[in-house]
Amino acid sequence: MDLSDIEPEAGGQTGGPEQDEEDIAREIGRLKKQLNAVILVHNYQRSGVQDVGDFLGDSLGLARQAASTDADVIVFCGVYFMAETAYMLSPEKKVILPDLNAGCPLADMAEACDVAEMKKKYPGAEVVCYVNSSAEVKAVSDYCCTSSNAVEVVKAVGSDQVIFIPDKNLGSYVAERVDKEVITWNGFCVTHECIGVEDIEARLKEHPRAEVIAHPECRPEVQAVSQHICSTSKMSEAARNSEAVEFIVATESGMLYPLRKAVPGKSFYAPVKDPLCPNMKLITLPKVLKALRGMGPEVTVPEDIRVRALGAVERMLSLG
Ligand code: 13P
Repeated sequence: MDLSDIEPEAGGQTGGPEQDEEDIAREIGRLKKQLNAVILVHNYQRSGVQDVGDFLGDSLGLARQAASTDADVIVFCGVYFMAETAYMLSPEKKVILPDLNAGCPLADMAEACDVAEMKKKYPGAEVVCYVNSSAEVKAVSDYCCTSSNAVEVVKAVGSDQVIFIPDKNLGSYVAERVDKEVITWNGFCVTHECIGVEDIEARLKEHPRAEVIAHPECRPEVQAVSQHICSTSKMSEAARNSEAVEFIVATESGMLYPLRKAVPGKSFYAPVKDPLCPNMKLITLPKVLKALRGMGPEVTVPEDIRVRALGAVERMLSLG
C-alpha cells in the first residue's frame, strides 16, 4: 500500500469552497483560537495534520495532554480509541474526531465478553488492557497501559498472573521483561503484523550500518532484529542517543516525519513495503477544518462505562 491508495489530503471536504493547504492551516489556526480548541495529533498522522497540531505524541503523551488541557474543545487527530480515552479523562470537554471511520482493527479484536471468559479461566489474574481497546474492554480491566509503559504497568499489578489484551506482540514483549505469567490474547495491529524481517533485511542491504527501531506491536522476529524497541515518542530519543546515523523504522510510516524533524542530522528509512495505517490516514487537513467549523463529529462514552473504564486509565496514569 502507498499513500496513493489512500484518500488525498485536500479535495472538497472543508464544507466550503476548495482551499489550498496553507489557507486551510491558517483558517484552522484562527478557528482554534476562537473556539478555545486544542489539536492533539498522533505521530502517525499526515505531515500537514502534524503541522497544525498543538501537541504531537504517542498514546500516553496525548492522554496526558487530554487530561490536563484547559481548552474547551479537543480535536483529536488519531483513531477512535484515542478520542474515547480523551473523553473519559475530560468529559466536560467536547472531544471531536474529524472522521468517525478512523477506527483501530486491533481494538476491535477483543470484546468485554472475551475478557469475562478469560477471567473465568484465570480467576487469580488481573487484567491489563492495551490502550488500543474499546471503552467497554477498559471498563472490565484492572489497568490500562500504552506501549510506552506496558512493562511498568504489568510489574505494578498486584497478581503474579496477568491477562494482557488485546495485542499478542506487545504482550510477548512484556512477558520477556517481567517476572510474571502473562496470558496474551490473539490480537494484533494489521499494519505492524505486515512488517516482515525480509522487509527490514532488504532495506538493510541498502543501508548496512543502519540500526533498526521497532514498535513493540511488531512481530517477535522483527523485534529480535531490532536494536531499539519503543513507543513512537521514544523513538527520537533512541535515535538521538545512538551512535548510529541511519535507522530503519519498523512502524507506521507517518513516524518518519517527526523523526526527521526531531533528529535532523540522521537518516530514517521505512522497511521496503511502506507500513501505512489507512485509519490514521483518514484524518486530513480539510476534515480538521470541517470538524472545527461544524464542531463535530463528537466522541462520547456512556457514563457508566466511562466511569469504570476511567478507573483502569487513572491507575495507569497514577504510576507516573
Ligand atoms: P504509541 O502509543 O507508541 O504511539 O502507539 C500507538 C499505536 O496505535 C501504535 O500502533
